[in-house]
Amino acid sequence: MNILDELRTRFTPALLAWTDDPSSVIEMLKASQDAKFGDYQANFAMPLANRSKELKPRDLAAQIVEQVDLSDVCEPLEVAGPGFINIKLKQDWLEDQTKQLVTDDRLGVATAKSPQKVVVDFSAPNVAKPMHVGHLRSSVIGDANYRVLQFLGHDVVGDNHIGDWGTQFGMIIFGYKHFLNEAAFQESPVEELARLYRLVNQLSDYHATRNTIPTVQNEVEQLESKLKTMEAANNPSDKKSQKQLKKLKSNIGERKSELTSMQEKLTAFEQDKDLQSKADTFPEIARLARQETAKLHAGDPENLDLWKQFLPECLEAIQVVYDRLDIHFDMTLGESYYQPMLADVVADLKEKGLATESEGATCVFIEGFKAPFIVQKQDGAFTYATTDLATIKYRVEELKADRVLYVVDSRQSEHFQLLFATVKEWGFTNLELQHVSFGTILGKNKRPYKTRSGDTVGLESLLDESIQRAYAIVAENDDAKPDGPELRKEERTQIAETVGLGGIKYADLKHNRDSDYVFDWDKMLANRGDTATYMQYAYARICGIFRKGNVDRPTLRNEHTMLNLAEESERALALQINRYSEILESVAIEARPNYLTNYLFELSNLFSTFYNNCHVLKAEDENVKTSRLLLCDLTARVIEHGLSLLGIRTCERM
Ligand code: ARG
Repeated sequence: MNILDELRTRFTPALLAWTDDPSSVIEMLKASQDAKFGDYQANFAMPLANRSKELKPRDLAAQIVEQVDLSDVCEPLEVAGPGFINIKLKQDWLEDQTKQLVTDDRLGVATAKSPQKVVVDFSAPNVAKPMHVGHLRSSVIGDANYRVLQFLGHDVVGDNHIGDWGTQFGMIIFGYKHFLNEAAFQESPVEELARLYRLVNQLSDYHATRNTIPTVQNEVEQLESKLKTMEAANNPSDKKSQKQLKKLKSNIGERKSELTSMQEKLTAFEQDKDLQSKADTFPEIARLARQETAKLHAGDPENLDLWKQFLPECLEAIQVVYDRLDIHFDMTLGESYYQPMLADVVADLKEKGLATESEGATCVFIEGFKAPFIVQKQDGAFTYATTDLATIKYRVEELKADRVLYVVDSRQSEHFQLLFATVKEWGFTNLELQHVSFGTILGKNKRPYKTRSGDTVGLESLLDESIQRAYAIVAENDDAKPDGPELRKEERTQIAETVGLGGIKYADLKHNRDSDYVFDWDKMLANRGDTATYMQYAYARICGIFRKGNVDRPTLRNEHTMLNLAEESERALALQINRYSEILESVAIEARPNYLTNYLFELSNLFSTFYNNCHVLKAEDENVKTSRLLLCDLTARVIEHGLSLLGIRTCERM
């Protein structure tokens, strides 16, 4: 049962005396932060009293309490402080609820009353290049949301909206035409295409860097002369100007170090004679690559053939990563799929008077936005925006979607705001659209995470490294066991895989997705603290209890007679187990898997406290022992299930 939901439902009629819209305040009934205020707490008396101005919040709270009948579920409700309502569940009711979970495969989680068709648009790499660390977040956050929604009974479609039609294809086509290593291509097309992509990227980056250096130099000179003037006029007692001076100096420092690293990059590049000669041959490589893309889009047969030849190779390469990550999609309709529909989209927008010509381009202007939504450029090319509009039309008309989640970097938030606003005006008003945005993964220097040499980190090598590090940890723990190591080599390898991949995923999911986070191996794989490893150990530890006590878990569940939560730590653990359902529903509403990671962390902590305070196998009597074993069983099941919804596995021994 979703206890929170139940409490809110029971309170709602009592609120009608004070507001026409109880839903506006009902979320102020929440789990309480501190057990001394009860299990749940309702704070709505304060805003309601403010609005009605008839009663003091405390008196209003008292009136609400009089009208709500929760005597079957809760101890008498208490009004505290200025008007808080403290709610404590009855012991026998909680015991009874917990007992019901023992034989419930769904761990108390009901399926949605009105299931929706939900499209989760996630991962979506541009496939002409190998996947890198930047693709991790969308893949992992998208997958977790997918799994949670599906478990809640929604009809979920995972769509990998890959970039298979963009400028990167022009780059590999250009590379293929000019720099192909035939033998390497025969041997491994994917690797050769990746090499060509990197090469063309490197060459155009070289020219771009060379062209920007003078500008930056110029800027530095100007800043330095400004500094001189300021220093000459400096008044040491004027705090404001000291501050400005300091800021200017640090700005100059930053720009200079940028300049140095640009120059270093050029020097390194120029030392490679072969690269240098290629760069000299194609000073306009960026424009030439764009030209290849334009030819592809215009239907040039040669480029189209190459594209058709390359695409399957690119898809195969990303599939390898998805297999390792255990991530699945129901469809992979990339940008190319929508190309035939784009002209109609623009025509329709024009016909409805939504899109207008502006400086040769076709744009949708939405009130409140500075930039227009450009659906066709001056040169006639359609855009990312046009494709997204066509995609929505397809998802509504063909897939019958009720809701679409876009799991995409927060840097695209303006695009999605414009997209959603345009779609509304276009007439798709019954569709729920949500940008599930996320921040960047940073290195310890607080800049986007890169390798030591400044390259992007490949996703596969990241996974390899994590598994390797996990192996070392697993081996060390096993070697340190008091009765000697118990794991075979294959077992260690398998556990390392589970721990390594789980660690990476968990570290990504546990943060509020909107914020950036710093990638840190040691924190991520630590045995203690808010990590997957900690929970995986808690799970394995519980499995160990059952092994040691020779307990058959299914039999235990079927024969259970007793559930007794006399100890404080037993009660707290049971309450947390009962909250699983409300947590999953909150994840589903806001598409925030970190609510689930928080919950699981708290659960593992409560288990630890319980296990430290209460004997399980050596409990004082058989009934108490059974009851505690049932709590262990439920904890293990919730951890295992919760982690599985995050795409993370568990091991019975570690
Ligand atoms: N391929 C895009 C990128 O790498 C992300 C696509 C996200 N999905 C969408 N429907 N726009 O930036």
